[in-house]
Amino acid sequence: MGTEDLVARDLQHVWHPFTQHAVWSADRPLVIDRGEGMHLIDTDGNRYLDGCSSLWVNVHGHRVPEVDDAIRHQLDRLAHSTFLGLTHEPGIELAEKLLATAPGSGTRRLTRVFYAGDGSSAVEAAIKMAFQAKAQNGHDRPLYLHVAEGYHGDTLGAVSVGGIELFHHTYRPILLDTVMIPSPGLRDAGQTPADRAREVLEVARALLAREGHRVCAVVVEPMVQAAAGMLTHDTEFLRGMRALADEHGTYLVADEVATGIGRTGRMWAVEHAGVVPDLLTCGKGLTAGYLPLSAVLATEEIWGSFLGAPWQGRTFFHGHSYTANPLCAAAAIANLDLIATTGTLAHARHVGDRIGELTRGLEAYHGVVEIRRIGTMTGIEVRSAGADRRTGFEVCQLARERGVLIRPLGDVVVLMPPLAIGDDDLDTLVGTVDSCIREVLG
Ligand SMILES: Cc1ncc(COP(=O)(O)O)c(C=O)c1O
Repeated sequence: MGTEDLVARDLQHVWHPFTQHAVWSADRPLVIDRGEGMHLIDTDGNRYLDGCSSLWVNVHGHRVPEVDDAIRHQLDRLAHSTFLGLTHEPGIELAEKLLATAPGSGTRRLTRVFYAGDGSSAVEAAIKMAFQAKAQNGHDRPLYLHVAEGYHGDTLGAVSVGGIELFHHTYRPILLDTVMIPSPGLRDAGQTPADRAREVLEVARALLAREGHRVCAVVVEPMVQAAAGMLTHDTEFLRGMRALADEHGTYLVADEVATGIGRTGRMWAVEHAGVVPDLLTCGKGLTAGYLPLSAVLATEEIWGSFLGAPWQGRTFFHGHSYTANPLCAAAAIANLDLIATTGTLAHARHVGDRIGELTRGLEAYHGVVEIRRIGTMTGIEVRSAGADRRTGFEVCQLARERGVLIRPLGDVVVLMPPLAIGDDDLDTLVGTVDSCIREVLG
C-alpha cells in the first residue's frame, strides 16, 4: 500500500492523540513502517533517528533481538490469560525482578506489584489504593495534594492530580477534590533551585497544616516535571515532601512513569534524593518501549490494609482485561535483564553527560531561554515567536526534514533518545537539533 493512499485513509477515519486534526494534514503525516536500532523508517524508505524514544518509551532501540525473542518465545506458550484469580510465570517473575530494583529498606520497602496498562492507569490505581488504604484504616481522607505543572496522564483521576492548564482546565468541573502547591521547577530570576524548593515546601506545610487530616496522598513527579517541559527541581523538594507526608500521615506517591527504568540515569528518580515513596508508578520504558504495561509498587503496610475476609469489602476492586498480559511481561523481563547485564544505567548517565556537553554551545544562543536536563531527559526552551507561531514545532519539523524525529512541548524542544544510543547517533541528534534551533530562531 502506497504512502499517499495510507495517509488518505488515515485522514478519513483515524483520530490521533494530542493532535489538532484541523491542521494535521497540512503537517504532512509520516507513515512509519519499521524500526531498526535507533531509527524508524517510513513507507517511502526514509530513515529517521528516534530522538524522542517513540515518546519516551524506548530503551535499547528498535527490534532488539533479546526482546523480540522473549516475546516470540512467550507467544509460543500463551498470549494472554486473565490475572483475575489466576496467575502466570511471566507476571510472577517480573514482579520479583522489578521489586529487586525498587528503592527502600527496613520498614519502608516496596514489596508488592499491581499491574496496569498505561501510565495513566497505574496512576489511577495508585490514587485509588491510597484512598482505600486510608479508609480501611479508619480515616476519611478524600483529598489529594498535587503540584502545579504536574502531568500524570489523561484518565480522570490522573487529570485531577495534574496541573497543566492547557491540558487540564477543560475537565476541572468533573474532577476529584485536590489541593495544589506551586511547581518547584518554576523559579523567579536569580532564585536557586534549593530556595525555590524551600519556598514551595513552606506552601505545602501551610496547606497540610490546614487540610492534612483530609489528604490521603501527595502525588509528585520525582526530580523533573517532564510534560511541563522538563522542569527539574532540587532533591530537597522530594525530601521535604516525604517528611511532610509522614508528619501528616499521608502517603507519598512517586509517579515514575516518565522517569523510571533508568531515564534519569538511575533506575528510579527518587534515588537521587534518597527518598522511598509509599506507592511508585512506572510504565513507558518498562517493556523497553515495545508493549503497553505499567505497574504500581506498594509497601507492605498498604498491601496489608487490603487484607480481610471476602465479605469485609477490603478487596481492591480494580483491574483490567489485559492486566499483566504475558507478552508484555515477557518483554519487560527481557528489558530488565538487558538493563542489568549491559550496563544500561551507566550508559544512560554517559548519554546524559554527553548531551550536556554537546548542548553547552546552545546555552548562550540568543533564542535559547534555558536548557534543563536530568539524565537523558532534556528540554531546550526556545524564545517564543508569538501566539501565531509554533516555534518548538517549527524546530521539530525542520529536524524531521533532516532525518531526526523529536516532539516539542510548546516552546520546549525535547531530546530524549533511547538509553542505549551510541555516540555517533547522539552527535547527529544534538548537532541536527542545534542547527535547526539556530535556523528557526534566526
Ligand atoms: C509522569 C507521567 N505520568 C503518567 C503519564 C501517562 O502515561 P501514559 O501516557 O502511558 O498513560 C505520563 C506520560 O507522559 C507521565 O509523564
